[in-house]
Amino acid sequence: MKNNKIIAVWGNPNSGKTTLGIKIANELIKKNKSVILVMADPYTPAIHTVLPFTETKEQSLGALMSSVQISQESILTKCIPVPKTKNLSVLSYLHGENIRTYADYGKERVLDFFILLKHLADHIIVDCSCQFHHDLLSRGALELSDQVVRLISPDLKAISYYDASLPLLGERKFNVENHIKVLSNVKPEMPKDIVGNRFGGIQNELEYSEELQRQVLEARLFESLTDKKSEGYNNQLHKLMAVLFFDQVERGKEKVKKEKKLKMDFLKKGVMRR
Ligand SMILES: Nc1ncnc2c1ncn2[C@@H]1O[C@H](COP(=O)(O)OP(=O)(O)OP(=O)(O)O)[C@@H](O)[C@H]1O
Ligand SMILES: [Mg+2]
Repeated sequence: MKNNKIIAVWGNPNSGKTTLGIKIANELIKKNKSVILVMADPYTPAIHTVLPFTETKEQSLGALMSSVQISQESILTKCIPVPKTKNLSVLSYLHGENIRTYADYGKERVLDFFILLKHLADHIIVDCSCQFHHDLLSRGALELSDQVVRLISPDLKAISYYDASLPLLGERKFNVENHIKVLSNVKPEMPKDIVGNRFGGIQNELEYSEELQRQVLEARLFESLTDKKSEGYNNQLHKLMAVLFFDQVERGKEKVKKEKKLKMDFLKKGVMRR
């Protein structure tokens, strides 16, 4: 598929990775894109926290990653469709599982997994675990995805997490300079400028939304935010979506225009020479 993307959502503990992963997926399906949301965290399997009443029929991401062979078909059998949506499904560890439930898998498997996924949906969103140094799938997503969204809570714990974790991503292949840094779950009283200055280059922000907090508690994150007070969050989310997906379309259009102009110039020159 052309222009399809793998987006990894990474961040300090409790920064809003799972929440944002779902909100990005929601926005994409509103634009008629197909999406697979990979909830990679094996430490707190997410599916039953966000879709507690959904039948999972042994559709475990862990079983998939450790299976003898992996194919587009085997991935599809593990995809859990999100009720009341079209074109959105989830891959997740299941309730009660952990990183030791299934046999270890290697880096090759992670690579095959992402290559196959790219053929199955318009976009892949990976909700990474914070403990990426033990979790090969999240680490693979940080290396192989087209874009990493790095969520930063505006507090001292986030600074502590990043000072400890970023040195583990020092190799060039992780390309941390290209991360899209987003201050997340920002409340007015928080020291966002201090944290922002500490990391630098933060252009996006997602403010606290009471309605969103309620959606988390009631496991309704796949629904839209309709409260007037969520307007700020919705606008910021749309801005982030533009950075992640639609800027690329605009850049694509500009490139086509430029190529057309070059072609015209070339043809004109040809005509003049004759
Ligand atoms: N913009 C926001 N407005 C209100 N609450 C938010 C916002 N973003 C995140 N939260 C809250 O922060 C908490 C953590 O969110 P979430 O579970 O998505 O984080 P996480 O980074 O996936 O956590 P973990 O590290 O445990 O995987 C939730 O209670 C969620 O409601
Ligand atoms: Mg999470």
